[in-house]
Amino acid sequence: MKTLLVTGGCGFIGVNFIRYLLDESDFAGRIVNADCLTYAANPLSLSDVAIRHGDRYLFVKADISDREAMGALMDEQQVDAVCHLAAESHVDRSIVRPQQFIQTNIVGAYTLLELVRERRDRIGRFHHVSTDEVFGSLGPTGLFTEDTPYRPNSPYSASKAASDHLVRAYHATYGLPVTLSNCSNNYGPYQFPEKLVPLMILNAMEGRSLPVYGDGRHVRDWLYVRDHCEALWLVLRKGQEGRTYNIGGRNEMENLRVVEMICDLVDEVCAPLPSGPRRALITFVKDRPGHDRRYAIDTTRIETELGWRPRESFASGLRKTVEWYRTRNDWVEQVRTGAYRQWIKEHYG
Ligand code: NAD
Ligand code: DAU
Repeated sequence: MKTLLVTGGCGFIGVNFIRYLLDESDFAGRIVNADCLTYAANPLSLSDVAIRHGDRYLFVKADISDREAMGALMDEQQVDAVCHLAAESHVDRSIVRPQQFIQTNIVGAYTLLELVRERRDRIGRFHHVSTDEVFGSLGPTGLFTEDTPYRPNSPYSASKAASDHLVRAYHATYGLPVTLSNCSNNYGPYQFPEKLVPLMILNAMEGRSLPVYGDGRHVRDWLYVRDHCEALWLVLRKGQEGRTYNIGGRNEMENLRVVEMICDLVDEVCAPLPSGPRRALITFVKDRPGHDRRYAIDTTRIETELGWRPRESFASGLRKTVEWYRTRNDWVEQVRTGAYRQWIKEHYG
């Protein structure tokens, strides 16, 4: 693996993954980061990396659906492996405006698969990063395994499910050297503050209301983003061709409990509010349509076959995350663009 193409490398997981590969892992090659810079991207999250690793890191602004541009990039840079992260990733946005999810998540993935198919002699691995949401919603018990049938409930998860099926089909039909991973909810540094954890941290710090959907009893499995990055690197190197790996934190929690933990941590590290403890900011708002009740992941395969285990507990990871947002005002201000403000206005009123 001499030149790894990372798509969507300016988004939350992409930034953490590139930082992990270049600063912490045994990866010895070069990274080409192709990202078209949607509202969710922040190339400045990697500006220090570009300085420190100038000879091993290249950013190129490109849309994964642009076949000509992506093909030329793969050839000019002699790409020999791909880690595909680029996507529209926010469920609520997919409910309001699904079109771009179909374009990027399905047509974009298809475009990359075709390009890899044409370059079979050189490209030895295509890793597709996907989500546990493709499996739909669980009842009060049970876990998603790699064999759980797909039953996506949002335009986002349906578009990710479609791309997973294409990746699998390109392996079965054309023998493409693919691997897939389906991961649970990530949290950590550099996450765009439209997602639950950073939204709640920033609102709690600023004494704003904390909008919890429905009764707040929906359950997600939470994984610190660096643990996900370590798993991705392991699957890229050692994952069996054609195989899927579930990734998760074995850390199920109701949304309300997550928000309460954030309130308590922010109370601990920030100045008190005149109105009292931050739990009082919690407000129950209208539920998300088609809101999946519970996700939970069985990670036996990646643990037994590849020896992966998450390092952070939710308490330790959340503490690190709160501290990061508390001290990184510069980053927060950069991502709070007009587009972000517009979304918050449209969605929360
Ligand atoms: P994100 O929204 O933070 O970042 C997505 C990145 O992709 C952005 O930088 C954006 O500019 C880029 N992008 C979007 N459309 C593009 C296009 N057409 N061409 C090139 N670049 C494009 O998302 P994330 O949270 O970092 O998620 C990354 C991947 O991981 C996604 O595939 C997502 O489905 C998957 N995933 C995310 C989570 C999670 O909890 N965040 C969990 C499991 C799986
Ligand atoms: O499970 C993996 C998925 O996790 C990824 O595939 C997605 O890309 C990622 O966005 C995330 O999806 P969720 O919909 O679970 O994440 P979100 O942060 O949007 O919401 C987490 C939970 O919190 C969900 O049950 C909805 C709820 N929520 C969310 C927001 C933004 C609220 O109660 N209030 C909010 O304001």
